Amino acid sequence: MNSMKRIIILASGSGSNVENIINHFRTNAYIEVAAVLTNKNTAPVIERCKRLKVPAIYFNKSAFIDSNVILDFLNSQEPDLIVLAGFLWKIPENLVASFPNKIVNIHPALLPKYGGKGMYGSKVHEAVKENGETETGITIHFVNENYDEGAIIYQAKTNLLPNDTPEQIAEKVHALEYEHFPKVLEKLLLPNG
Ligand code: GRF
Repeated sequence: MNSMKRIIILASGSGSNVENIINHFRTNAYIEVAAVLTNKNTAPVIERCKRLKVPAIYFNKSAFIDSNVILDFLNSQEPDLIVLAGFLWKIPENLVASFPNKIVNIHPALLPKYGGKGMYGSKVHEAVKENGETETGITIHFVNENYDEGAIIYQAKTNLLPNDTPEQIAEKVHALEYEHFPKVLEKLLLPNG
Protein backbone atom coordinates (compact mmCIF):
# COMPACT_ATOMS: atom_id res chain seq x y z
CA MET A 1 0.00 0.00 0.00
CA ASN A 2 1.72 3.21 -1.07
CA SER A 3 1.79 5.71 1.78
CA MET A 4 -0.27 8.91 1.70
CA LYS A 5 1.07 11.83 -0.28
CA ARG A 6 1.72 14.60 2.22
CA ILE A 7 1.11 18.28 1.55
CA ILE A 8 2.43 20.96 3.89
CA ILE A 9 1.01 24.44 3.32
CA LEU A 10 2.63 27.77 4.21
CA ALA A 11 0.26 30.72 4.63
CA SER A 12 0.39 34.24 6.09
CA GLY A 13 -3.17 35.46 5.91
CA SER A 14 -6.85 34.63 5.61
CA GLY A 15 -6.36 31.05 4.41
CA SER A 16 -9.38 30.66 2.11
CA ASN A 17 -7.18 28.68 -0.28
CA VAL A 18 -5.90 26.60 2.64
CA GLU A 19 -9.49 25.77 3.64
CA ASN A 20 -10.40 24.95 0.04
CA ILE A 21 -7.40 22.62 -0.36
CA ILE A 22 -8.06 20.86 2.97
CA ASN A 23 -11.70 20.33 2.03
CA HIS A 24 -10.79 19.11 -1.45
CA PHE A 25 -8.51 16.36 -0.09
CA ARG A 26 -10.60 15.54 2.99
CA THR A 27 -12.02 12.40 1.38
CA ASN A 28 -8.98 11.57 -0.76
CA ALA A 29 -7.46 8.23 0.22
CA TYR A 30 -4.04 9.06 -1.24
CA ILE A 31 -3.39 12.72 -0.43
CA GLU A 32 -3.56 14.62 2.85
CA VAL A 33 -2.74 18.07 4.16
CA ALA A 34 -0.39 17.08 6.99
CA ALA A 35 0.09 20.55 8.49
CA VAL A 36 -0.18 24.27 7.88
CA LEU A 37 2.70 26.57 8.85
CA THR A 38 2.27 30.30 9.32
CA ASN A 39 4.58 33.22 10.00
CA LYS A 40 1.77 35.33 11.49
CA ASN A 41 0.40 34.26 14.86
CA THR A 42 -2.70 36.40 14.30
CA ALA A 43 -3.44 35.03 10.83
CA PRO A 44 -7.08 33.90 10.43
CA VAL A 45 -5.75 30.74 8.76
CA ILE A 46 -4.96 29.46 12.30
CA GLU A 47 -8.65 29.56 13.26
CA ARG A 48 -9.61 27.81 10.05
CA CYS A 49 -7.14 24.99 10.81
CA LYS A 50 -8.49 24.61 14.36
CA ARG A 51 -12.02 24.25 12.96
CA LEU A 52 -10.81 21.87 10.23
CA LYS A 53 -8.68 19.87 12.72
CA VAL A 54 -5.44 20.30 10.80
CA PRO A 55 -2.28 21.17 12.80
CA ALA A 56 -1.34 24.85 12.44
CA ILE A 57 2.17 25.78 13.51
CA TYR A 58 3.42 29.33 13.99
CA PHE A 59 7.05 30.16 13.30
CA ASN A 60 9.01 33.40 13.46
CA LYS A 61 11.72 34.86 11.28
CA SER A 62 14.60 33.36 13.22
CA ALA A 63 13.11 29.88 12.87
CA PHE A 64 12.58 30.35 9.13
CA ILE A 65 15.43 32.50 7.91
CA ASP A 66 18.14 32.73 10.56
CA SER A 67 18.23 29.05 11.47
CA ASN A 68 17.34 25.60 10.13
CA VAL A 69 14.49 25.07 12.59
CA ILE A 70 11.76 25.09 9.95
CA LEU A 71 13.97 23.41 7.34
CA ASP A 72 14.62 20.56 9.80
CA PHE A 73 10.92 20.38 10.68
CA LEU A 74 9.96 20.16 7.01
CA ASN A 75 12.54 17.45 6.39
CA SER A 76 11.16 15.48 9.34
CA GLN A 77 7.66 15.71 7.86
CA GLU A 78 8.83 14.26 4.50
CA PRO A 79 6.39 16.36 2.45
CA ASP A 80 5.65 15.33 -1.11
CA LEU A 81 4.67 18.93 -1.84
CA ILE A 82 5.16 22.23 -0.02
CA VAL A 83 2.41 24.64 -1.04
CA LEU A 84 2.53 28.42 -0.61
CA ALA A 85 -1.00 29.80 -0.35
CA GLY A 86 -0.78 33.47 0.46
CA PHE A 87 2.67 33.21 2.02
CA LEU A 88 4.46 36.54 1.95
CA TRP A 89 8.11 35.75 2.68
CA LYS A 90 10.73 34.75 0.12
CA ILE A 91 11.81 31.10 0.52
CA PRO A 92 15.42 30.84 1.73
CA GLU A 93 17.81 29.33 -0.79
CA ASN A 94 18.70 26.33 1.39
CA LEU A 95 15.01 25.48 1.67
CA VAL A 96 14.52 25.76 -2.10
CA ALA A 97 17.59 23.54 -2.58
CA SER A 98 16.27 20.95 -0.11
CA PHE A 99 12.99 20.47 -1.99
CA PRO A 100 13.73 20.73 -5.72
CA ASN A 101 10.51 20.93 -7.77
CA LYS A 102 8.53 20.33 -4.59
CA ILE A 103 7.58 23.87 -3.63
CA VAL A 104 4.68 25.48 -5.51
CA ASN A 105 3.09 28.90 -5.21
CA ILE A 106 -0.10 30.47 -6.47
CA HIS A 107 0.03 34.07 -7.66
CA PRO A 108 -3.16 36.06 -8.29
CA ALA A 109 -2.15 37.35 -11.72
CA LEU A 110 -0.81 36.18 -15.09
CA LEU A 111 2.97 36.07 -14.46
CA PRO A 112 5.42 37.31 -15.51
CA LYS A 113 3.26 40.45 -15.37
CA TYR A 114 2.21 41.84 -11.97
CA GLY A 115 4.68 39.73 -9.98
CA GLY A 116 7.72 40.30 -7.83
CA LYS A 117 8.45 41.82 -4.44
CA GLY A 118 5.54 43.70 -2.96
CA MET A 119 3.06 42.46 -5.56
CA TYR A 120 0.50 40.61 -3.46
CA GLY A 121 -3.17 40.82 -2.50
CA SER A 122 -5.03 43.97 -3.49
CA LYS A 123 -1.82 45.62 -4.77
CA VAL A 124 -1.92 43.17 -7.69
CA HIS A 125 -5.57 43.80 -8.55
CA GLU A 126 -5.14 47.58 -8.21
CA ALA A 127 -2.23 47.48 -10.68
CA VAL A 128 -4.24 45.30 -13.11
CA LYS A 129 -7.11 47.80 -12.85
CA GLU A 130 -4.77 50.78 -13.19
CA ASN A 131 -3.42 49.37 -16.45
CA GLY A 132 -6.87 48.76 -17.87
CA GLU A 133 -6.29 45.05 -18.41
CA THR A 134 -9.19 43.23 -20.08
CA GLU A 135 -8.23 39.96 -18.44
CA THR A 136 -6.35 38.63 -15.43
CA GLY A 137 -5.97 35.25 -13.80
CA ILE A 138 -3.87 32.92 -11.66
CA THR A 139 -0.42 31.45 -12.04
CA ILE A 140 0.69 28.29 -10.26
CA HIS A 141 4.44 27.91 -10.44
CA PHE A 142 7.43 26.17 -8.90
CA VAL A 143 9.22 28.33 -6.37
CA ASN A 144 12.85 29.39 -6.64
CA GLU A 145 14.81 31.85 -4.51
CA ASN A 146 13.25 34.88 -6.18
CA TYR A 147 9.66 36.09 -5.86
CA ASP A 148 7.30 34.68 -8.51
CA GLU A 149 10.02 33.54 -10.93
CA GLY A 150 9.93 29.73 -10.94
CA ALA A 151 8.75 27.58 -13.86
CA ILE A 152 5.05 28.07 -14.59
CA ILE A 153 2.92 24.94 -14.04
CA TYR A 154 -0.56 26.25 -14.83
CA GLN A 155 -2.44 29.46 -15.65
CA ALA A 156 -6.16 30.23 -15.84
CA LYS A 157 -7.75 33.47 -17.09
CA THR A 158 -10.88 35.51 -16.45
CA ASN A 159 -12.24 38.47 -18.40
CA LEU A 160 -12.48 41.90 -16.77
CA LEU A 161 -15.04 44.64 -17.35
CA PRO A 162 -13.95 48.29 -17.44
CA ASN A 163 -15.84 49.15 -14.25
CA ASP A 164 -14.68 46.11 -12.27
CA THR A 165 -13.32 47.34 -8.93
CA PRO A 166 -10.14 45.78 -7.46
CA GLU A 167 -12.43 43.91 -5.05
CA GLN A 168 -14.48 42.49 -7.91
CA ILE A 169 -11.24 41.52 -9.67
CA ALA A 170 -10.09 39.78 -6.49
CA GLU A 171 -13.37 37.88 -6.37
CA LYS A 172 -12.97 36.67 -9.95
CA VAL A 173 -9.38 35.61 -9.22
CA HIS A 174 -10.32 33.79 -6.01
CA ALA A 175 -12.97 31.87 -7.96
CA LEU A 176 -10.24 30.62 -10.32
CA GLU A 177 -8.00 29.71 -7.37
CA TYR A 178 -10.69 27.65 -5.67
CA GLU A 179 -11.57 25.88 -8.90
CA HIS A 180 -8.07 25.06 -10.13
CA PHE A 181 -5.47 25.00 -7.33
CA PRO A 182 -6.48 21.70 -5.65
CA LYS A 183 -6.78 19.96 -9.03
CA VAL A 184 -3.32 21.13 -10.13
CA LEU A 185 -1.87 19.90 -6.82
CA GLU A 186 -3.60 16.54 -7.30
CA LYS A 187 -2.13 16.23 -10.80
CA LEU A 188 1.35 17.03 -9.48
CA LEU A 189 1.07 14.39 -6.74
CA LEU A 190 -0.72 11.68 -8.73
CA PRO A 191 0.30 12.31 -12.35
CA ASN A 192 -1.23 9.00 -13.42
CA GLY A 193 -4.49 9.75 -11.65
C1 GRF B 1 -4.51 34.45 -2.93
O1 GRF B 1 -5.07 35.44 -3.77
C2 GRF B 1 -3.30 33.85 -3.57
O2 GRF B 1 -3.32 33.89 -4.99
C3 GRF B 1 -2.19 34.74 -3.09
O3 GRF B 1 -2.54 35.12 -1.78
C4 GRF B 1 -3.96 35.07 -1.66
C5 GRF B 1 -4.26 34.22 -0.46
O4 GRF B 1 -5.60 34.34 -0.16
N1 GRF B 1 -0.94 34.06 -3.12
P1 GRF B 1 -6.16 33.37 1.01
O5 GRF B 1 -5.35 33.64 2.27
O6 GRF B 1 -6.00 31.96 0.54
O7 GRF B 1 -7.62 33.76 1.17
